[in-house]
Amino acid sequence: MPSKNKLPDNPFPEVEAVYESFSEDILNLDYDEIKHKYLGKKGLVIDLLCRIKEKQNKEKPLYGKAVNSLKNAIEQKINTLRGKENLQQTGKMLTKDAIDITAPFDVNIPLQDKPKLISQPGSLHPITEIGEKALRIFESMGFHVTYSRRLDNDYNVFEALNLPPEHPARDMWDTFWTQDDLIPITHTSAMQNRILTTKKVPIREVIVGRCMRNEATDASHEHTFYQVEGMYVDKGITLAHLIGTLSAFMNEFYGRDVKYRIQPSYFPFVEPGLEFLIECLTCGQKGCPFCGYSGWVELVPCGPIHPNVLREGGYDPETYTGFAWGLGYDRLVILQSHINDIRHIHSGDLKFLEQFK
Ligand code: DAH
Repeated sequence: MPSKNKLPDNPFPEVEAVYESFSEDILNLDYDEIKHKYLGKKGLVIDLLCRIKEKQNKEKPLYGKAVNSLKNAIEQKINTLRGKENLQQTGKMLTKDAIDITAPFDVNIPLQDKPKLISQPGSLHPITEIGEKALRIFESMGFHVTYSRRLDNDYNVFEALNLPPEHPARDMWDTFWTQDDLIPITHTSAMQNRILTTKKVPIREVIVGRCMRNEATDASHEHTFYQVEGMYVDKGITLAHLIGTLSAFMNEFYGRDVKYRIQPSYFPFVEPGLEFLIECLTCGQKGCPFCGYSGWVELVPCGPIHPNVLREGGYDPETYTGFAWGLGYDRLVILQSHINDIRHIHSGDLKFLEQFK
């Protein structure tokens, strides 16, 4: 076994001596000092090389080779050790200075110092929570829950809802299109024709969906929002049933008798188009920016289903009537929690979400 500090195949003791001293120094000196001492212009390796002239001619090639392999061995060792050290240094920097910008605290601090957050279970998003609460109430009133498609075609989003191509009211639902002419639904009303053509009367359906619109976003407009559509179709259904249903829902949802009001509106798929308003719960009807100082909040667009929509769905409007509504979850959350900017809802910001725990 060659000894640890021996140069392989070297018959020259003076060359060996330099290597031995290098092997000692490498443990104690820094790399620049060593380089200077051994490989510098006046270093020990050059010194050995100069002594070649003292050698006999036949020894010279072997000696030159031995000094060269000493030089290589020294260089290699320094480079390897320096490389290792750099790696360790980088590793240290990586663990010390790495930044996870999504973490709500410095992930590199010792475990015991980490905020409790890390061991706390998450909670439902307010949209999910309020949505579930609303659905359970509708279910308890006898409605069946259906989930809406995410993408649909022009027929379901517009035409079947009494909005033929070129109808000016299509502007109310400026939207996105996929390359193959599908639409990320602009409203859950897009499911109305499917419900009419697949379900039998009495139809009592609520349809939940994620909707999108081409909006210039600001504090009260978002491109993505959630709706729950309601539909009721049978013989002898009147406006009174619609108002009674929505009012009963509001009372149950807010846990008290909520004042409401109906006012005219316009949607091509209902006749007449209506808006169901409730008292402003933010200011107790004293008047505030949220209710536009009117004391009332428009919460549910609704109305008796238009005869053309019923006909398109296979029902004779002379025999069957019905009502429908489109309730925005986001508005419910905003109203309940006094949120001043609708964009918080889909921001995923933990500081915002933790308030709902
Ligand atoms: N789909 C309408 C919208 O998103 C809301 C709506 C109005 C739905 C009246 C209805 C309705 O079912 O009857 O703007």
